[in-house]
Amino acid sequence: MRVLVLGATGGIGKFLLEYATARGHEVTAFVRSPQKIALKSERLRVVPGDLLHADQLAQVLPGHDVVLSAFGPSTLRRVTTRGEFGVALAAAMERSGVPRALVVSSALVFEEQNAIGKLLRGTLFRNLIPDMTAMETAMEKDALEWTIVRPPRLTNGPLTRSYSVADGRLPKGMTVSRACVADFMIKEAERPAHLRQIVGLSK
Ligand SMILES: NC(=O)c1ccc[n+]([C@@H]2O[C@H](COP(=O)([O-])OP(=O)(O)OC[C@H]3O[C@@H](n4cnc5c(N)ncnc54)[C@H](OP(=O)(O)O)[C@@H]3O)[C@@H](O)[C@H]2O)c1
Repeated sequence: MRVLVLGATGGIGKFLLEYATARGHEVTAFVRSPQKIALKSERLRVVPGDLLHADQLAQVLPGHDVVLSAFGPSTLRRVTTRGEFGVALAAAMERSGVPRALVVSSALVFEEQNAIGKLLRGTLFRNLIPDMTAMETAMEKDALEWTIVRPPRLTNGPLTRSYSVADGRLPKGMTVSRACVADFMIKEAERPAHLRQIVGLSK
């Protein structure tokens, strides 16, 4: 496959590059900071650009089979960046005729939460929910083959084969490793089993 990775310099993104190239895919990392890419592979092409601009995304997209996004701003303040990104990506994908994308969001967007989730949704992470929801809504177009990936708290733990996946809910478990999220995304891109689904992932 030809895979376009967004957020490739981040924690999940680095695993996406490593696993996708190791599995024989041709990978493009579309990044604002190319100097942060450490991986060397003949299957990896690094393209500098701004993923908030639909025109730039539409330039890089043609020829790819799937988009894998682990993009996300690190601020806890109220921003609209994820929503803007979703609108730009969906428009660029429709224009380019590349319909398939997997996009990382957050388990905090699930309405159903345990006591800790409810507390976090109302306090520390309250500003993230509207922006993540806007990103998801922008991606959930009939013309697109989207999968929204909602992990709970991310860890730097190892890749295990025993993580749980569920459509429309968070499986039991409060954490998942970045490596496991990347593993799920690559395998789902290779063999779609969660098309047009919101997927909860946990350890
Ligand atoms: N942390 C958690 O526990 C948790 C839980 C659930 C969901 N999530 C979601 O999962 C996402 C991915 O996690 P992660 O640990 O891989 O995140 P990360 O290490 O912070 O990586 C975020 C990526 O997004 C890029 N990015 C941020 N703002 C950007 C902008 N304005 N323009 C272009 N690129 C931008 C970063 O690029 P640069 O390297 O250039 O900054 C980086 O590649 C998070 O951002 C969050 O939305 C996180």
